[in-house]
Amino acid sequence: MTQSVTLKPYQPRVFSGVQPTGNLHLGNYLGAIKRFAELQDGHDCIYCVVDMHAITMPQDPVELTRATREVTAAFLAAGIDAKKHIVFNQSQVAGHAELAWVFNCIARMGWLNRMTQFKEKAGKDRENASIGLFAYPTLMAADILVYRATHVPVGEDQKQHLELTRDIAQKFNFDFGDRIRALGLESGDYFPQPEPLIAGPAPRVMSLRDGTKKMSKSDASDNSRLNLTDDADAIAQKIRKAKTDPEPLPGEAEGLKGRPEAENLVTIFAALSGREPATILSEFGGGQFSTFKNALVELSVEKLSPIGAEMRRLTGDPAMIDAVLKDGAERARAIAEPVMRDVRGILGFIQG
Ligand code: TYM
Repeated sequence: MTQSVTLKPYQPRVFSGVQPTGNLHLGNYLGAIKRFAELQDGHDCIYCVVDMHAITMPQDPVELTRATREVTAAFLAAGIDAKKHIVFNQSQVAGHAELAWVFNCIARMGWLNRMTQFKEKAGKDRENASIGLFAYPTLMAADILVYRATHVPVGEDQKQHLELTRDIAQKFNFDFGDRIRALGLESGDYFPQPEPLIAGPAPRVMSLRDGTKKMSKSDASDNSRLNLTDDADAIAQKIRKAKTDPEPLPGEAEGLKGRPEAENLVTIFAALSGREPATILSEFGGGQFSTFKNALVELSVEKLSPIGAEMRRLTGDPAMIDAVLKDGAERARAIAEPVMRDVRGILGFIQG
């Protein structure tokens, strides 16, 4: 055997990514970035700004650069330690694209045809969607598996993509099982089955204008979301305008059923304060929404303003951000490259 093979059983590793598209909002923070920071103790973490995913939809290049730095700044402002862990942008590590191509040849059209995010993003004009938008989930599988990551903190909207990642890992292991065993990995499983970590207090933050729609970067109405860079006035205004219903808040969580806007605001309050929804309802239940909203404004400003201010400070020094990304990319490459050597060897590619 001429190929150098480094097959080893995988160690626990956390990986996640955020797209540098539009403004980061409270959903990104509570569903993902806040949890990234919490997972740092006791785990090896890799957090990626997925600029290659961003270009599956048209992007202004100048804006893409700005947004890539802004997401990096959000990671740092949320407390992620880029020295202990790895923070980088996807396009600097070629293994993502290379493994995505391999996975394009593993995943089946039928699997990708079932992805609801593609259907939503492509809309009615499917013929005009990019191939990249269709193949988006195979790149996502590559992001995770090029590090043989075992745990992936994400919001609920990414669940289906994680299931596909597991299917791809399983099919690769199965299709090449003999080869993997012949190369010395006894179990025959080269890629792990990464586990989604979706169980945070707010895995699905909803729009402030419509409690049945998720809070999203792409919503035309800026009032539908709290952006991480919103100042105190904007936060106050958006929460005061947030849609509610005419009933007062219930005293117990049961009473939130069928009241999506009320439920969303209570969930946000709970997640930001680190308290249980039941405790919050015991305090605010029976009272007017305006009292609750005033408390939510105060809490949101207290929790989000320092992050926004720190993001502004950090993005004021783009050279520092770029240096963090470069250093992270070097360390990410050092993990990804041996995996790619294995994969090339497993596939039968000749390499120098
Ligand atoms: P993206 O950039 O859309 O969102 C980043 C993270 O924020 C979560 N999120 C939410 N959580 C709760 N409530 C919401 N309203 C809300 N909106 C967004 C998302 O679930 C996500 O965790 N495909 C991914 C990026 C990605 C990735 C990866 C993630 C690329 N490769 C590999 C994990 C592993 C995405 O578009 O996220």
